[in-house]
Amino acid sequence: EPVIRPVGPASTPAVVAHRGYSAVAPENTLAAVESALRSGADYVEVDVASSADGVPIILHDNTLDRTTDGTGALPSVTSDYIEGLDAGTWFSTAFSGQPVPTLLDVLALVKGRAPVLLLEVKGPETRAELEVIVGQLRDEGLIEQTLLQSFDVNVLRDVRAIEPELRLGLLRSSIDADPVAVARDLGVVAYNPAWTALQNRTDVIDDLHAAEIAVMPYTIDDASQWEILRDLGVDGIITNRPGALVGWNERH
Ligand code: G3P
Ligand code: CA
Repeated sequence: EPVIRPVGPASTPAVVAHRGYSAVAPENTLAAVESALRSGADYVEVDVASSADGVPIILHDNTLDRTTDGTGALPSVTSDYIEGLDAGTWFSTAFSGQPVPTLLDVLALVKGRAPVLLLEVKGPETRAELEVIVGQLRDEGLIEQTLLQSFDVNVLRDVRAIEPELRLGLLRSSIDADPVAVARDLGVVAYNPAWTALQNRTDVIDDLHAAEIAVMPYTIDDASQWEILRDLGVDGIITNRPGALVGWNERH
């Protein structure tokens, strides 16, 4: 069973590929997800949000402008329009023709592979939109292989009500006064803060671990910072360089 690796102080942090293997391939494309799957990562993170016609689309920004040859805000464009776009050329012409994936495309790629899907839902999403996302995970048999995370607590509350079996993670840009209380209230198994907020906060990690809640900070690409976080006892590290972190874990 794919589980969060609560690795403890003597072990190495789980490797989480951020937006796929986004250092070597355009973020949130099938090429980036495939590279992440082959990198030895324990988790593959992607971002999902719904198009105007309610199709879950893999995209980080609120608009298409930075990472595709299209324009417009995702909630106001249709999946038909998105389907024809190029999400690779901005990164490198070697990836020209990479489409903007749907969630279903990514689910088909990760299904039956070892890594856990760390699915970040970019809020706000309506209850109906979240039901579609969860329904696709269910239909593909991926509830157990997925950890769904969000900065948006309303997303987490709604998903909890839709599918109690789906494991949840809370993303935070700063540390709450009582992170355990917040995590327990939401029923999350992971509390994933910006790594800068965690510096010198062994108290936070110890408290969350005592409550059996994992801590997987984002987004860290530098080995000197990996070392600091490993020594703090984090359970996972979200990185754009999963292959490098796999290698670093083996050597350190
Ligand atoms: O997985 C955590 C991280 O992805 C959150 O920030 O902006 O990269 O989605 P962002
Ligand atoms: Ca993300």
